[in-house]
Amino acid sequence: MNIVLGVSGGIAAYKAPELVRRLQDLGAAVRVILTPNAARFVSPLSLAAVSHHGVITDQWGDPAKGGVDHIEMARWAELLLIAPATANVIAKLAVGIADDALTTYSVAHRTAIMVAPAMNWSMLQHATVVQNLATLRSRGVEIIDPESGYLAEGEEGEGRLAAIPAIVERVKMHRGTRDLEGKRVLVTAGPTREAIDPVRYLSNRSSGRMGYAIADAARRRGATVTLVSGPTSLEVPPGVDITRIDTAKEMLEAVMAKAASHQIVIKAAAVADFAPETVADRKIKKPADRGTIELSLRKNPDILASLATVHPRPFIVAFAAETDSVEKNAREKLERKGADLIVANDVSDTTIGFDSDENEVLILGRDGSSVRVERSPKLVIANRILDAVVARLG
Ligand code: CTP
Repeated sequence: MNIVLGVSGGIAAYKAPELVRRLQDLGAAVRVILTPNAARFVSPLSLAAVSHHGVITDQWGDPAKGGVDHIEMARWAELLLIAPATANVIAKLAVGIADDALTTYSVAHRTAIMVAPAMNWSMLQHATVVQNLATLRSRGVEIIDPESGYLAEGEEGEGRLAAIPAIVERVKMHRGTRDLEGKRVLVTAGPTREAIDPVRYLSNRSSGRMGYAIADAARRRGATVTLVSGPTSLEVPPGVDITRIDTAKEMLEAVMAKAASHQIVIKAAAVADFAPETVADRKIKKPADRGTIELSLRKNPDILASLATVHPRPFIVAFAAETDSVEKNAREKLERKGADLIVANDVSDTTIGFDSDENEVLILGRDGSSVRVERSPKLVIANRILDAVVARLG
């Protein structure tokens, strides 16, 4: 695969040589174009050395060769990946400004484009950036969303360039397999919310990221995807049909109404095990005479257990969030829940899993198989789970 890597002038440009190497690991040939500002953060010489090609920094081509570099390159390229993409480059791409080597090349480029933005969180939320990204999306450009975390300015927020393995995974998927073509996949995601009174509820720390990543990956692999989601702040992956629910009971109803028309059901949701026995119709007041109040909880329906009665029975993937004896407890859960696969993760490690972009999981099969996926972005985990499903569906 021939990739043109465009690097623009953000601090994350220093990651470009590593990105070139990891793309080469996929068997890709990579040629690099730098904006003048990118060359302040990363040396053209380093990129020439790792890519084994001259690096273009000037839009006027090479007089000695006589050719116009960007036209020749556009004939060669199968993918243009811009990482990191600054607010400036994103704006120029949206309106077609061609005033440096990268933006001129982008107008000449005729095949797929992927853009990985990186900037401060406040810039990412600016109306022009939001609008320009939407314009690019509507034109078929794939946006590789930035991560949350520490930013160069010492602040924390969304805007950090997506992790290199996540970018590489997206490139791999672009080239990739349509092995779920013709399949219908139902994914549940996020927490459920169980009302106590009109203003309070019981819930959990699930962000929904794992389920949304699975929905996104399954759709990119050709599946028709239905997502049943509890409350999250995530964007629905393009092309995915969404049903929003609040409570476990609503999730049960949505899943049971849809399961028989899906061949694969993946239960990534963190369903609340208990709900208040009664929901007060008025806000519960603090008792004046006591420091405690009692809340009586009733067990919620087990959605996975109900799935066992669906006909025709779909292929079922369960999740297990454990803090102790992860593999042993997950294996027991796999049997008890009658699932085909279970994805176990250790929720005692607070740096991964809940509310994080990364996770580390064990994928356990009914057949006794066990695959460990080391700490990786959730999109990578999603694809390894789908690989395990595809291998079993034959
Ligand atoms: N699950 C479900 N319905 C519930 C509770 C959980 O379908 N009422 C599903 C989850 O979506 C997940 C799997 O069951 O795929 C395991 O969830 P987990 O909370 O780890 O298991 P529990 O059965 O609740 O077991 P425990 O809390 O005792 O560990």
